[in-house]
Amino acid sequence: MKVHEFISESEEMTLALGIRLAKLLPSGSVVALAGDLGCGKTVLSRGIARGLDIAEAVTSPTFTVAQEYRRPNGEYLYHLDMYRIADENAALAFGIDEFLFQPNAVTLVEWPEQIAGLLDDERLRTVRFRHLDENRRAISIENWLEEEALKQEMEKAGLTVL
Ligand SMILES: Nc1ncnc2c1ncn2[C@@H]1O[C@H](COP(=O)(O)OP(=O)(O)OP(=O)(O)O)[C@@H](O)[C@H]1O
Ligand SMILES: [Mg+2]
Repeated sequence: MKVHEFISESEEMTLALGIRLAKLLPSGSVVALAGDLGCGKTVLSRGIARGLDIAEAVTSPTFTVAQEYRRPNGEYLYHLDMYRIADENAALAFGIDEFLFQPNAVTLVEWPEQIAGLLDDERLRTVRFRHLDENRRAISIENWLEEEALKQEMEKAGLTVL
C-alpha cells in the first residue's frame, strides 16, 4: 500500500490540505480520519467541506453522530463521528448504512476504528494524523487512487512531503 506523509505546521495548513483533497474525492468515497483527540480531524473535515463548496460552518459532530451538508450541486457531505458508538452493531442500529458509500455523497468518518468492519471497501481512503507538537501534525494519506494528482495538490497547498 502506498502512503504519502506530509507535515502540517498549522491549523490553516490542515484546512488548506482539506480544500485540496476535496478536489480528489469522487462521490461515493468514504474518508476515514484516524488519530487522537485534538489532532485535527475536524479541521480537515472543515477544509474538505469548503472544497466541496459547502458554505455552512462545519462543527464537531461529536454530539450528533451524523451531520449532513448539502452541496450546491445537489449532492451531500456526511460527517460522522463514531467516538461514542460502541461497535458495528450499534452503528448499524443507528442506521449508518445510509451514510456510507452513497453514490451521491462524500462521507467523512472520525474515529473509524469503531466500525472498521463496515469500511472494508475499495472506495475507502484513509487519512492518519499524528501529534508532533502543539502546532505540528504528521498527516499520512493511504490508498489514495489518484497518486500524481494528489502529489501536485499537496505541493500547491505548501505541504512538506516526507
Ligand atoms: N497543524 C494543525 N492542524 C490541525 N489542527 C491544529 C494544528 N495545530 C494546532 N491545531 C489545533 O488542534 C485542534 C484540532 O482540533 P480538531 O477538533 O480538529 O481535532 P479532532 O481530531 O477532530 O478531535 P476529536 O477527536 O476530539 O474530534 C484545534 O484546536 C486546532 O486549532
Ligand atoms: Mg473532531
